[in-house]
Amino acid sequence: MIVDVVTLFPEIIESALAHSIPQRVMDKGLAQLNLIQLRDYGQGNYRRVDDYPYGGGGGMVMACEPLAQCLDDLLAANSYDEVVYLSPDGVPYKQPLANRLSLCQRLLLVCGHYKGIDQRIRDRYFTLEISIGDYVLSGGELAAAVVVDSIYRLLPGAIGDETSALTDSFQDGLLAPPIYTRPECWRGMSVPDVLLSGHEAEISRWRHEQALKRTQERRPDLLSGEE
Ligand code: ADE
Repeated sequence: MIVDVVTLFPEIIESALAHSIPQRVMDKGLAQLNLIQLRDYGQGNYRRVDDYPYGGGGGMVMACEPLAQCLDDLLAANSYDEVVYLSPDGVPYKQPLANRLSLCQRLLLVCGHYKGIDQRIRDRYFTLEISIGDYVLSGGELAAAVVVDSIYRLLPGAIGDETSALTDSFQDGLLAPPIYTRPECWRGMSVPDVLLSGHEAEISRWRHEQALKRTQERRPDLLSGEE
């Protein structure tokens, strides 16, 4: 898989993904990450990439032309499954969308800044707009890193234990059950007997019950099908 990211702050994305599973995925050649500096398309001596909003109000808007030229170049050179804009008013990012994006060959992610991007650019270029939560970040970079991390861990070969990503929280619409490691008794608290029993079917049933209980307590919205 190839992911191209248009950004004014490539260091944020680079550092967020330079560890753990995402780094390993790139080292193994399972995925490639290309960071495209939007400033290179900026105008004038200062390589300007922002402009004033029509209608007044505070804040600046991403300038149209630098972004359009950058996207035109990328779209002429490559074929993308999705051209994604990260924005608080995008569709809420959930595991099923991560699963779907992990099946793509090539993605283009665009990180906004300032007050956002001219609506005409959004209408013209983006096939998908994603929000990672109901809060406003300073830019799309951390959101892009979240999306890329969640996708990379799903790529075949990313995780040693092949079943591991499938047992993540949300993969079956439930939160993950509690987990335990050694010692069997830690500071007076014991590991549930069933996990020591060696009975796979019972362990599996216990885990499912615990996942349901935890989801009911912490995220009842996931069980009722509400958002
Ligand atoms: N850019 C700023 N805030 C964001 C959010 N919540 N999700 C995606 N992109 C963003």
